[in-house]
Amino acid sequence: MEAFVASLCLVMLGLYILRKPSLSFRTLLEIIRGRSKTSGGYFSLERATSSYDNYLSMSLNELADMRYSYGKLGRGHKRIGYELGYPAKLDKLGELNEVNAKITRAIAKFARGEFPQLRNAATSSAGGDVGRVRETLKHFVRDWSREGQEERDNIFGPILNVLNQVPLDERADMKVLIPGSGLGRLAWEVSKLGFETTANELSFFMTLAFRFLVSSSATQTPNQHTIYPYINWFSHQRNNDNLFRGIAFPDELPRIGNGLNLIEGDFLELQAPRREPRINEPLQKTHSVPIGYDFIVTLFFIDTSLNVISTLEHIHSLLRPGGTWINLGPLLWTSGAQAQLELSLEEVWDLARAIGFRIHGQNNDLEIPDCYRRRTVECQYTADKRALMKWLYQAEFWVATKNE
Ligand SMILES: C[S@@+](CC[C@H](N)C(=O)[O-])C[C@H]1O[C@@H](n2cnc3c(N)ncnc32)[C@H](O)[C@@H]1O
Repeated sequence: MEAFVASLCLVMLGLYILRKPSLSFRTLLEIIRGRSKTSGGYFSLERATSSYDNYLSMSLNELADMRYSYGKLGRGHKRIGYELGYPAKLDKLGELNEVNAKITRAIAKFARGEFPQLRNAATSSAGGDVGRVRETLKHFVRDWSREGQEERDNIFGPILNVLNQVPLDERADMKVLIPGSGLGRLAWEVSKLGFETTANELSFFMTLAFRFLVSSSATQTPNQHTIYPYINWFSHQRNNDNLFRGIAFPDELPRIGNGLNLIEGDFLELQAPRREPRINEPLQKTHSVPIGYDFIVTLFFIDTSLNVISTLEHIHSLLRPGGTWINLGPLLWTSGAQAQLELSLEEVWDLARAIGFRIHGQNNDLEIPDCYRRRTVECQYTADKRALMKWLYQAEFWVATKNE
């Protein structure tokens, strides 16, 4: 149903574009990918807020479809279904959708408090992307619950090990950028190591949820909130206790400041950080000086690019000479031929070298610490660890240095 509605929307959008020849194909992509500065962008503040607001109605529509399908059973099978507790299971789904909606509505309400322009905007009563909201609920688990610890250790571990090589007393002067930071846990962990850390995220589905966590008015104590992130997919469940289990979050209370900041917007539009001239610096250097980031960390990020050449070039241009790029992720390119290039791993490395990176741990590079070594990391992504199925990535981890 969701897929049908999404396709219908795309067709209607296409028709709209054809009738408006001034809108280019690029603009169409931008609208779909949310990069457009139009207020109606796919990942825009307005769309994310209305999706959080309408989570319950969209979920209850699906529940109505499920009840309808069950209702089509013959009388004998309906009785068996009743004895198995199936109608009660659907009732439970309805109740827990309402509990989840308390959080999603709180996020929407919080957004209206933070962004005055939303207060007068009419929120569509039907619109929204329930899939994106559910994805965020799963990110609360992966990033901010005890349940997500194992998954985090597996993928954050290699990155944090590299950063831990930097002597403690040098970290406060070092700048780390994490583009596509999602719900921000990696950025929080990096800032706790003592680096000046910038999280950057394009999607308001993510940043509103992150803001909700870091706000002392919305989230005051560890494990204050509980969600039921698995209820909307009855497949691959061993039993209903697993399906209906609640997950408390956040396991830690993140806060902005003290070395962590957030830039909402497109990574491709970011500029290198600058510093003010030092006292006694020569006259010609009296303007602030671009210094570049010391580290850029991309986690499950580069393959979300429509043009990976631009992404790698921009990583290169934002780093200081000798700066370090740490990457971990698969190569799951945006589908539907939206990505302008869908490269293999070896092509990505060739591209990185052509742009001006040296990738460590290749060509029998024996002089590097073990944690710098290029390797494959088998991992999951926002998985339900009790489910009867696993989606395993053979993600690639590498550390690269910008040539001086
Ligand atoms: C696959 S998710 C990974 C999120 C996070 N790194 C994690 O591991 O949980 C990719 C993220 O990159 C964000 N993103 C994609 N393109 C972006 C861009 N140009 N600028 C900033 N963020 C972007 C998406 O909104 C999404 O949250």
